Amino acid sequence: MRLIPVSSKDDVGKWAAKHIVDRINAFEPTADRPFVLGLPTGGTPLNTYKKLIQMHQAGKVSFRHVVTFNMDEYVGIPADYPESYRSFMFRNFFEHIDIPLENINLLDGNPEDLEAECLRYEQKIKALGGIELFMGGVGHDGHIAFNEPGSSLASRTRIKTLTDKTRQANSRFFNGDMNQVPKLALTIGVGTLMDAREVMILVTGSEKAQALKAAVEGAVNHLWTVSALQMHPKAMIVCDDDATMEL
Ligand code: GLP
Repeated sequence: MRLIPVSSKDDVGKWAAKHIVDRINAFEPTADRPFVLGLPTGGTPLNTYKKLIQMHQAGKVSFRHVVTFNMDEYVGIPADYPESYRSFMFRNFFEHIDIPLENINLLDGNPEDLEAECLRYEQKIKALGGIELFMGGVGHDGHIAFNEPGSSLASRTRIKTLTDKTRQANSRFFNGDMNQVPKLALTIGVGTLMDAREVMILVTGSEKAQALKAAVEGAVNHLWTVSALQMHPKAMIVCDDDATMEL
């Protein structure tokens, strides 16, 4: 695993955006083989999205041949609710770039059949030849996507019950009211993430220092799902100074 420490969270965004742009531009897409990019939500990737939009506007990258898959979605909130992950992604990224609508893949948090929806997602990723680069963030407790502590490291896309800690942390997006935060989510599995040809996890802030320590110095274990990255042949963590304080 590569650890890329940079000074600030702004630098994390710059580094990550440049890496994504370099990878997209080095890739030669064909009609049946686009560049498949996995994406997260949360506060951490916001700088990266801003920078990617700037680079797109400056003519440095096009997303016309990029297909995206988001990591997760809450179950049971309307898709157009401002804090659904679908709304987040359109507001903060997709609306500002030239990606065709049909290239955007998001989990549906209100399907008739939740399990069928998870299966559909896995099958679509596979049909496109897998994910080239998956970007992600990390929770305070080391969860990646919504793979809460105790998740199987071989897990695939599925329904997950959110821990109180995660709901508490995410209540800032729901008027600070934890009762409004959904209890269930659909999430790609650790196994789904590990299948990506490259994984780039962003970690910023001292509140993520324990998670970074577990990811880098701890043993691989299902209580800190981010630690699975140690087994990935091409994983990297881009972090700021504050996040390294426990290393
Ligand atoms: C949620 C998301 C994760 C994200 C985490 C941290 O739980 N499902 O994908 O990494 O929040 O978010 P933030 O970047 O806001 O700290």
